[in-house]
Amino acid sequence: GETHAAALSTLGFPELKRVYDKTHAAADGYETTIVARWGDPLVAGLPDFDGSTVAAAEQEKRFGYNCDYIAFLPLPKGSVNSDHGLLCVNNEYISPNVMFPGVTEDDAGKTMSKEQVDLGLAAMGHSIVEVMFKDGKWQTVEDSPLNRRITANTEMTVSGPAAGHALLRTSADATGTKVLGTSYNCSGGFTPWGTVLTCEEGVSDLFGGDPKKAPTADILDRYGFDGSDIYGRGRFHDRFNIDKEPNEPNRFDWVVEIDPYDPQSKPVKRTALGRMSHEASTVVLNKDGRIVVYMGDDDYFEYMYRYVSNKAYDKANPASGNGLLDDGVLSVARYDADGSLTWLPLVHGQGKLTAENGFADQAEVLLKTRLAADALGATPMDRPEDIETNPVTGRVYAVMTKNKKRDESKVNPANTRPENLWGHIVELIPPGGRGAEADHTADKYAWDLFVLCGNPKDTKVGATFHPETSDNGWFVCPDNITFDPAGRLWVATDGANDFGLPDGVYGVDTEGAARGLPKLLFTCPHGAEATGPCFTPDGTTLFLSVQHPSEDAETLDKAQSLWPDFRDGQPPRPSVVAIRRKDGQPVGA
Ligand code: FEO
Ligand code: CA
Ligand code: CA
Ligand code: CA
Repeated sequence: GETHAAALSTLGFPELKRVYDKTHAAADGYETTIVARWGDPLVAGLPDFDGSTVAAAEQEKRFGYNCDYIAFLPLPKGSVNSDHGLLCVNNEYISPNVMFPGVTEDDAGKTMSKEQVDLGLAAMGHSIVEVMFKDGKWQTVEDSPLNRRITANTEMTVSGPAAGHALLRTSADATGTKVLGTSYNCSGGFTPWGTVLTCEEGVSDLFGGDPKKAPTADILDRYGFDGSDIYGRGRFHDRFNIDKEPNEPNRFDWVVEIDPYDPQSKPVKRTALGRMSHEASTVVLNKDGRIVVYMGDDDYFEYMYRYVSNKAYDKANPASGNGLLDDGVLSVARYDADGSLTWLPLVHGQGKLTAENGFADQAEVLLKTRLAADALGATPMDRPEDIETNPVTGRVYAVMTKNKKRDESKVNPANTRPENLWGHIVELIPPGGRGAEADHTADKYAWDLFVLCGNPKDTKVGATFHPETSDNGWFVCPDNITFDPAGRLWVATDGANDFGLPDGVYGVDTEGAARGLPKLLFTCPHGAEATGPCFTPDGTTLFLSVQHPSEDAETLDKAQSLWPDFRDGQPPRPSVVAIRRKDGQPVGA
């Protein structure tokens, strides 16, 4: 068992014993510091944070709620420093039941006050904060001019083929190019030119009104709009009421590009990357200089996408990145039983994507990305979350978190288990060679199932981890992933709580004797998921978002853990943590 496993794995740490507790835990020899909590100040001079009374206007100057994707962008720009940089962090959503006394998850949309609704608008989006490793620990720079909040109110522009389209115009914006805000910012990516991509993961329940009565009812239906307005926005702001502003929904579910090095820059919604419940947008600089973006659409039976820029990026001229995400080809994945994967281009005029079939132009193909992908026969997946490339091998790993809705009649070669409660990871193999030689622009890849997740001892689950996987090492519901500089995969989970287990972070070799053998490094406190794993360039720090602690409590007074401050009368606080080896060696070395 465990001793043999330790000998096989390239991961040198003693595996953590899995305990589901009020607080977090890391493997022996590792230390965890809290770097940025919900409500931490991003400007100097704010009063002490009081989570029970914070006002919306003040929240705009404080770190947002439910941290998710993290990018570490070194300072100064262009360096590979690992002790100074910008943490660019998504703030995916809010958990009203553990923010506001007496509010439950089910009635929040109907009972939240205007002040609480506006706090919600200000607490979601993205937070940029300068951080330094100083005196042995990571700390934020409270008065940095680069600190910034992007919220559901921040003005942004729209670019690419759908910019200005009639379906993007509203009474507040006749141009169809100026949108207020971003929401449900889940995972993301970063570009070689120093920008961050934040993904809007399906805003279908953030709007009130009746989507069935809207002129675009068919599109709203395909994108899951149900009028449920779960944070009460539609009660106080007309733009979140479909009856009053039927086109406002079309201005969301895009990928947004932010330049964190320029605090005056306006975020840009890049429509060429398609419209879906965007989970991640992982960027690869292909060997020929073209920019490739891998994307998952995180919903039941949705698809995997890839974007390839038409022009090449010039490393000597970072400004050449501007526009590369507006001009390119979006494709969707079809997996075949012969082990091949075909990228099907979503290009107006090709195949079924014609005016006769409801796609008047490329803007409509993008606005209705899901419908276009349906028409091409893409492969429905088990909720595609993160996708990342192994920097050493060039292989691409795509996470399917779970899909309880798949039945026997709907299994396919890449999604083999009915009622998949445990998730799996697919391995994509581009042609061309290892590492930088891999051709991420090819029309055809090979693919394999890397691991089917779940408890290996429960034979009906059918998990396929390495046979030496320990009782602490197997996992369920993989969500976000990243690679360390040595090419080991790190998996953050979201959903283990349903099995009475903590969510956490696991390191896994993807090749060699320990391929598919995970080891547990870190566990989250009660009710939280692990998300946004991100290494510094030298691999010595692993940043991680601990999202929605105690969210499973019916109401705040029943919260099982007031992590990380444990102050009576104060709500728990989603936070970014830094995990380091105590001796400063790379994580997992
Ligand atoms: Fe926001 Fe797909 O997790
Ligand atoms: Ca999440
Ligand atoms: Ca996620
Ligand atoms: Ca998830």
